[in-house]
Amino acid sequence: MPKVLVTGGAGYIGSHTVRLLLSQGYDVTVVDDLSHGYRHNVPPERLNAMNICHTAALAELMRQTRPAAVVHFAAFIAVGESMREPERYFANNVGGSLSLLTAMVQAGIRHIVFSSTAAVYGNPHATPILETFPIQPVNPYGESKVMVETLLRWFDAIHHLTSVSLRYFNAAGADPSGALGEQHEPETHLIPLLFRAIMTGKPITIFGNDYNTPDGTCIRDYIHVNDLAQAHILALEHLMSGGATSQFNVGTGTGHTVMEVVRAVEEVTGKKVPYTIGARREGDSDALVAASGKLRQSLKWEPRFPNLRAIVEHAWGFAKKHY
Ligand code: UFG
Repeated sequence: MPKVLVTGGAGYIGSHTVRLLLSQGYDVTVVDDLSHGYRHNVPPERLNAMNICHTAALAELMRQTRPAAVVHFAAFIAVGESMREPERYFANNVGGSLSLLTAMVQAGIRHIVFSSTAAVYGNPHATPILETFPIQPVNPYGESKVMVETLLRWFDAIHHLTSVSLRYFNAAGADPSGALGEQHEPETHLIPLLFRAIMTGKPITIFGNDYNTPDGTCIRDYIHVNDLAQAHILALEHLMSGGATSQFNVGTGTGHTVMEVVRAVEEVTGKKVPYTIGARREGDSDALVAASGKLRQSLKWEPRFPNLRAIVEHAWGFAKKHY
């Protein structure tokens, strides 16, 4: 089976993808500096604790392991933090990716699947969001991903390095086995924070209920992390069989309000979520839902867990063991 190098493979989405790749017979090498990922998320013999900014070390590892392709997750992900410390986001996300691409050219590795984000669209004029919508990020996190997509176009034009950029909507859930799950520090994502509110009794703040949606809370497209992981494997297969550079939304195409997620969490856990309604969070749009037709048609992707209930059940299976 093909060899694949995964950066950021000890993080949330990375570790689920590594697990799925291994289960489908891929030979996986992980690079992760463990600044945000966890050693226990990756089989020890697969892990290289290394920062992707070290171009020479990365190129050497690629020459030794000869991967057919790279899957690139390693990045900072917090939108709010990126508004306070943009320099760190550009250095790590853009500088790190440039170092990785440089190492790939040096080692002669020709394909990469890149973790991009729906944040490249900023506050879109309509929903569902098509890949052809204007690229207009509203924070340095989103801008850093746009900049890497731009690098990828030039590396294809000049070095014939082909890429798929996957623009994630709201990754959620956990491996059904309960072995992996979402563990961010600090946690900013809705579903883990709803569990935390239940466990601690400390109310979660819902960021606004005066949006232009049926119940006034924001609509997002929650996608099961294993369905997201499978999109990476299909993208890899596309590139390794000669497919062209492309960009895809990765979402289910169905949106849920924050209050619908609260109710799903209450149903799954059998407990009331303590919450208060607070002010809107800066930068939140009313509704962000993917048009997922391109991914479904071009890569033959279909979600295995399209309903919110399964996403919350799997997330809870992990969370209840880890608080
Ligand atoms: N929310 C709350 N209270 C909280 C946390 C979140 O009400 O304490 C709400 C948010 O306002 C939003 C929804 O829950 O309406 C989901 O929020 P998340 O923070 O879980 O996710 P976002 O939609 O803000 O962000 C996600 C990814 C980002 C990415 C963005 C792209 O986490 O990395 O989608 O649009 F940039």
